[in-house]
Order: sequence, then C-alpha cells, then structure tokens
Amino acid sequence: MSDNWWREAVIYQVYPRSFADANGDGMGDLAGIRSRIPYLSALGVDAIWLSPFYASPQKDAGYDVADYRAIDPRFGTLDDFDAMLEAAHEAGIRLIVDLVPNHSSSEHEWFKAALAAGPGSAERDRYHFRDVDPAKPETPPNNWQSVFGGPAWTRTPDGKQWYLHLFDSSQPDLNWDNPEVHAEFQSILRFWLDRGVDGFRIDVAHGMVKAEGLPDTGGDGTIEMIGTTRSPFFDQDGVHDIYRTWRPVIEEYDGDRIFVAEAWTDSAERRALYLRPDELHQAFNFDLVLAPFKAVDFRKAIDAEIANNAGVGAPCTWVLSNHDVQRHVTRYGDGPIGLARAKAATQLLLALPGVVYVYQGEELGLNEVLDLPDEVREDPTFFRTNGEQIGRDGCRVPIPWKTEGPSLGFGDAAGWLPQPEGWSEKSVEAEDGVAGSTLEFYRQAIALRKAHKASGLTWLDEPSADTLAFDNGAVVCVVNFGDEPVSLDGFDGEVLLASADLAEGRLPAGSAVWFAK
Ligand code: BGC
Repeated sequence: MSDNWWREAVIYQVYPRSFADANGDGMGDLAGIRSRIPYLSALGVDAIWLSPFYASPQKDAGYDVADYRAIDPRFGTLDDFDAMLEAAHEAGIRLIVDLVPNHSSSEHEWFKAALAAGPGSAERDRYHFRDVDPAKPETPPNNWQSVFGGPAWTRTPDGKQWYLHLFDSSQPDLNWDNPEVHAEFQSILRFWLDRGVDGFRIDVAHGMVKAEGLPDTGGDGTIEMIGTTRSPFFDQDGVHDIYRTWRPVIEEYDGDRIFVAEAWTDSAERRALYLRPDELHQAFNFDLVLAPFKAVDFRKAIDAEIANNAGVGAPCTWVLSNHDVQRHVTRYGDGPIGLARAKAATQLLLALPGVVYVYQGEELGLNEVLDLPDEVREDPTFFRTNGEQIGRDGCRVPIPWKTEGPSLGFGDAAGWLPQPEGWSEKSVEAEDGVAGSTLEFYRQAIALRKAHKASGLTWLDEPSADTLAFDNGAVVCVVNFGDEPVSLDGFDGEVLLASADLAEGRLPAGSAVWFAK
C-alpha cells in the first residue's frame, strides 16, 4: 500500500565527501554519515538523498562512476553501506541514492574495453564514437561544447576516433540507443533496490538521449547545465521512453520507492512531462534556484509549478541549494542580509505544498566559500575553463560540527577543502540548543510543517508589492522580499514561527512569518 510519503517529504541532501569523516583521511565517508543519523533524525527530515559514493577516480567528485555496484574505498565498503542504510531505516529515515546513467567514468570496464576493441566494435557502440576526418583531424564531429568548458569531444589515444563527453573527458556519454545499456541500468536499479534503497535521484535525467545524427546546436555550441534549454542533447523526447521502462521495475518493489529527476528544462510544462504517471515521481524545480530574491519571480515560479504538476498529479519539488549551485545565503547577498533572506525563503518553501530538499549545511546558515585557494580546487569546471570559472567547490566545503579541531569536527584531520574563518560559530556545536540559531530555526520550521500540513495554496492580498502572502490550508505565510519593514495589520492568529523579530507588528526586510489558522 502506498503511503505517498514522497508527496510531502523534507529530504536532506548528503554530499558524502563533505559530510562527516569517520576515518580521518580528510574525506567524508559512509561510517561518518551513519554516525550522524541521530542528528538528521533530530532535524526531522524524512529521507536522505546521497550523492555518489561508487567506485570512481573522482574526476568529477564521484559523478564519474567506474563501477556502479561497488563502493569507493575512500567512502567505505558495501558492509558500511548496509549498516548506514539500516541505521537510517531504524531512525525512520529513507535513503535515495544517486544514479548516473548519462555517462560512466573513462575508468569503467566498458570504456576500457571499448578503447581496446577498436572502431566498429560492439564495445564501442556502448558509447558515442565517431571517426576522425583525416582531412580535418582537429575538427570534432559537431560543435557541441562540454558543460564544463571546451569541446565535448576528445580523440582516442590512437587518434583515430573521437568520443563524446557532455561533461569532463573522463566522463564518456553512454549510447542509449544500445539495448545493452538499457539492460545494464535495469540491472543496476535492481542491485540497489534489492539492497533496500528507497529510490534514485537521476543525474542529468534530461540528457541521455541525443538527437539522431548528432546535429550541431545553434550558435557556437556552448552549453550550460543551468539555463540551457532544449538542444540536440538535452530534453529530447526519447528520454521519456527510458523512464517508462524504469517505472515498472521500481513498482515491483514494495515500500513506495521513488525516482527524482535532475532535469533542467526551459519551462515547467517540459518538466512536468517527466512526471507523467508512468514515468518519474519528482523533478527538482530549479526555477527558484535561478530566481532573484523578488516576490514577483517567486510567485511566477510557484504558480507555474503548481499548475503544471497538478496536470500530471505529481508533487512540486522545491529546492534552493545543492552541490552544483552557489549557496542561497550568498546568492541573496551574503552576510546578515543574505542569511536573513535565506531563512525567509526557506520558511516560504516549507509552507508550500509538495516536497522540500535541504542541502547539507544550509540548516547552519553556511555561506558559499568564494576564496578557496586555486591549489585546493577539484571541480573540473575550474580546469576546463583555465580558471575563468571557479566552479562549484565553494558549496562543497566540509561541514563544521564542532567549534574547534583541525576540521571543526568534520574529522580528526584537515578536510579535503579548508573551512573559512567564521565557521566555528556556524558549527552544529555552536548552534545546537541556542535560541535564534539557524539550526534551531530549521528544526522548529520542519517540526511545525509536519504539525500543520499544507493542503493547497491560495494567494492573499499582500501588504506591499515586495511581499507575498498565502494560505496553505493550515497556516498563513507572509514573506517580505523588500528592503523595508511592512505592516502586518490585517493578519491575525497565533504566530507559529517568524524568521526575524516582529517588532511593532511589522515584518522586517527579508523575513517570513507563519500564522496559525
Ligand atoms: C551533477 C553534477 C555533475 C554532473 C555530471 C550534475 O547534474 O549534479 O555534480 O557534475 O551532473 O554528472
């Protein structure tokens, strides 16, 4: 029997490299995650989404998978995985793992076999290889550019063929026209479902199918994950056929397990297609990641999502931060105002009908670390753009658990990225039990959201143009996006939660309030 937990869950993203390091090697691990399950339980989350922990050369922080059924030794063993999963389940927390089907690592057995087997072989057909034109040996087969910068094609070591990689050259794209690829991923799904996982986050869910003939894109072929609309390699209609074959697989298993899509689309309409009843369960709404902190932009994104997802009977899936984007405290201006706005935006999200994803560390009010030294950076974006783009390392800095220690309690040694000045005061130890801390705010907000469940959304007259006000069936939420306080005259009821002090009945700039109904 389905309990539909996933229609209203709060799901916490754990980035394994940076969450908790149990063995003191500077990198987080599965045993570290297991040791922090009580913390997640106290936060009140329903599920964890775990970024990749599979065997990988870590050229893209694990999104370059060399063996989809093995744990990277840096993170532990399969036994550690099972123990972590069991601890999560005992605490009533579900676990969603990351599946990376668009590309493998160049260290995957299949790719090694493809290079060894040569042009025209069945092994090469699992990827996208194309002959080098002897008349133009430097010109790739088309104009596609890698999301991380530079051409999306690299020549094989013998110089005879090119292979396609939408991301780093160490991440060759799999050929989803090949039935073997389909069979292999169905088997990988079953491997993890048999182990008891509660679902999968599908990486680049809009990218697996490429337009026939691999035609040039318009313009200079430059693509960005964020903001790229439809192209010959993104959001092709053929991806939906894949999901229609996956849905029956997951349905065979009990326990209401789910798929969540990372699908960057150019509209809420296109995104909703991934959520048709025979496809996936959730798809991240990235519109609020892209939106400025403005009432009009938030309202537009919320309205579009609610309308389109209602059409396919799927929950809205809200998110403000993840391991690929600048942390929302920093997007909204950093410092006290950035943090105030971030809390207000989070409080708004937690009042919306649907699912909310929380990225590790946002509950501590962590900011993006913008000034990491170049020597410690690992994001391939940094290298492939020759440092022009600093990349995503700044949102991946290890979590501060304690006020002191070589990595502020992340582990017994320095972490793989250094933590900045000021993170001691943002540590779990510094915030735990402290009234007014960001951590206590998140705990309270998540608990209240559970006690006052949203059943819909009705916009109310807002007290100013920079404000949004709505009734979700259980609470009235008012958010001030502006730079001046606004009067709350006309709103009554018990104040359940306010992200800032409501002095003289006014809602301060960059803050939110919930009234009980
Ligand atoms: C992941 C990124 C990764 C890319 C390639 C993205 O969607 O979230 O972290 O670099 O896919 O796998």
